[in-house]
Amino acid sequence: MSTHPSFLNRYGPWALVTGASDGIGQSFAVALARRGMDVVLVARRREKLESLAQKMRQEHSVQCRVVAADLTTAEGLAAVLEATSELEVGLAVCAAGFGTAGPFLDGDLDNELNLLQLNCGATTALSWHFGKRLATRGQGGLILLSSIVAFQGVPRSAHYAASKAYVQTLAEGLQLEWRGRGIDVLAVAPGPVNTGFASRSQLNMGKAESPDVVAEQSLKGLGRGGTVRPGMLSKLLGYSLAMTPRWGRTRIMGLVMRGMTRHQHA
Ligand SMILES: NC(=O)c1ccc[n+]([C@@H]2O[C@H](COP(=O)([O-])OP(=O)(O)OC[C@H]3O[C@@H](n4cnc5c(N)ncnc54)[C@H](OP(=O)(O)O)[C@@H]3O)[C@@H](O)[C@H]2O)c1
Repeated sequence: MSTHPSFLNRYGPWALVTGASDGIGQSFAVALARRGMDVVLVARRREKLESLAQKMRQEHSVQCRVVAADLTTAEGLAAVLEATSELEVGLAVCAAGFGTAGPFLDGDLDNELNLLQLNCGATTALSWHFGKRLATRGQGGLILLSSIVAFQGVPRSAHYAASKAYVQTLAEGLQLEWRGRGIDVLAVAPGPVNTGFASRSQLNMGKAESPDVVAEQSLKGLGRGGTVRPGMLSKLLGYSLAMTPRWGRTRIMGLVMRGMTRHQHA
């Protein structure tokens, strides 16, 4: 029995969570199950999704569906749409994403273009498809994963930051555009979070927030405003940079990123 009936009424019965096999997406999936939501879990690693689904069914008595799909491919996106076509999805959480860090010219172009396809392309496609379904229902929610890096250029993570600026801008536009349609759009802008993200991006994070805090604070913020900065670290970084002009923020973030990528050249 859900202890969050109003959440379930507004955003249930089904939620879609991408990036559910790990990190922030996984925490979102569990936090939603705790609210009594049935959840469609999407990522590439089927075994991780299956074991999470089993755990959520047992511990929270919710229904779960697993879609093992690479969201950078047309087939992967089609598989998600097909698997959810009969379900009443009231909330979509687009958490699948990855980052790159280090000098732009030292990176691999194919990897950067794959990042663009996942962080921006898949997010746009899912926002469009699920936005249409939510608009037809006349209620629901969309949560997009932005980042603290979205608000200025970031040397040594220039392309990842650009992808998150895209997501942040998309969310801000849709928030107002869809307000009259009963759809709550939320941008989530965390600072460093303790997930698989750092090792995939070759980042040395140091202090980092728990993904459970990110998910909980985001779900509490859904329907209350435009952007959530979950955890102390993102609030501290966000508010201390807020008074700095954009060119200054870019330089400060460049210094932060230099520290986080120093080990790459050790
Ligand atoms: N961690 C941070 O410090 C931080 C800070 C700010 C924002 N964010 C954002 O938060 C989101 C989640 O990141 P995270 O920290 O949770 O990272 P994570 O632990 O590495 O999780 C990323 C998730 O995305 C999935 N994924 C990756 N490539 C995929 C693909 N091609 N198709 C489908 N799924 C794919 C991964 O699953 P599979 O490998 O099984 O596919 C995994 O479930 C990202 O958008 C990231 O940019 C993270």
